[in-house]
Amino acid sequence: MAFLYFLWLSLSVLIVDCSDYADWYLVWQDEFNGEELDLNHWEYQIGGINFGSHEIEYYTNRTKNVRIENGSLVIDAQIEKYDSYNFTSGRIHGKQSWTYGKFEARARLPSGHQLWPAIWMMPHLSKYGSWAASGEIDIMENKGDHPAVIEATIHYGGKRPYNTHTGSGPRDFHCDLSKDFHLYAIEWNAKEIRFYLDNNHYFTADIDRMMWSGKGPNPYTRKGQPFDQSFHWILNVAIGGSYFGPGPYVTPEQAKHWPKSTMEIDYLRVYQQKK
Ligand SMILES: *[C@@H]1O[C@H](CO)[C@@H](O)[C@H](O)[C@H]1NC(C)=O
Ligand SMILES: *[C@@H]1O[C@H](CO)[C@@H](O)[C@H](O)[C@H]1NC(C)=O
Ligand SMILES: *[C@@H]1O[C@H](CO)[C@@H](O)[C@H](O)[C@H]1NC(C)=O
Repeated sequence: MAFLYFLWLSLSVLIVDCSDYADWYLVWQDEFNGEELDLNHWEYQIGGINFGSHEIEYYTNRTKNVRIENGSLVIDAQIEKYDSYNFTSGRIHGKQSWTYGKFEARARLPSGHQLWPAIWMMPHLSKYGSWAASGEIDIMENKGDHPAVIEATIHYGGKRPYNTHTGSGPRDFHCDLSKDFHLYAIEWNAKEIRFYLDNNHYFTADIDRMMWSGKGPNPYTRKGQPFDQSFHWILNVAIGGSYFGPGPYVTPEQAKHWPKSTMEIDYLRVYQQKK
């Protein structure tokens, strides 16, 4: 009986997904089919951008770290001495931004000790203040040690240290996501942000509420803030950092055993809903 109920539940979810899909129209895409990264769409973030996250790589704009190859964007983590760092990698952020919509990334993940690939979104203007008062949407974060496990999270609530977050927690999909391309997506409206892997809905963040953390000054006056503003893409592969705890972090010697140092993005697409 429980099995039949589960089956019914899965079927009904699929039907709802299909009818929803018809309402979306494409407003932006990058298929990464050109010769090089389209700088009308993207800006490189260069340097050791380790803010609060204690990552140990240096991000560069060299093709060694960020390039278009075989119709995909490739972000490639390298073991090399660079400006006192032991590793280099790539991080780019989008120049366009949107409020609400369906955001899709077809990607293949890296695999290896303390690689930290992420497909995420940040507020275009920090209207409600510095991180995380103005929000952050993590569509996909992964620890390269476990290429079948991803996590969806939103950060909000107030400025550090008064921020908070809500998320799926680590989800094991029992499928090595570094072997093939998969579709990572969100559907975001004024009430909720729904997270999908290969069109399977696996987490919903409720934003139809006052999102203040309850600590420190309240940056918000209405329900749904800060997720009522426009957000842009960020794509990167970090190495080490607080996502793996306090350290010690991966050494160049350990990194020689990384099975796959690249994240490939086949395409990104943004849809909005017909009014
Ligand atoms: C990379 O960054 C350097 C330093 O900011 C700049 O001079 C160079 O034009 C950039 N190259 C590309 C491909 O953006
Ligand atoms: C691109 O294609 C070539 C030839 O099939 C292959 O050797 C290379 O590994 C591919 N690159 C990526 C990033 O998949
Ligand atoms: C670079 O790697 C070496 C060898 O593992 C280590 O001793 C050193 O602390 C590392 N440097 C940084 C900046 O992490």
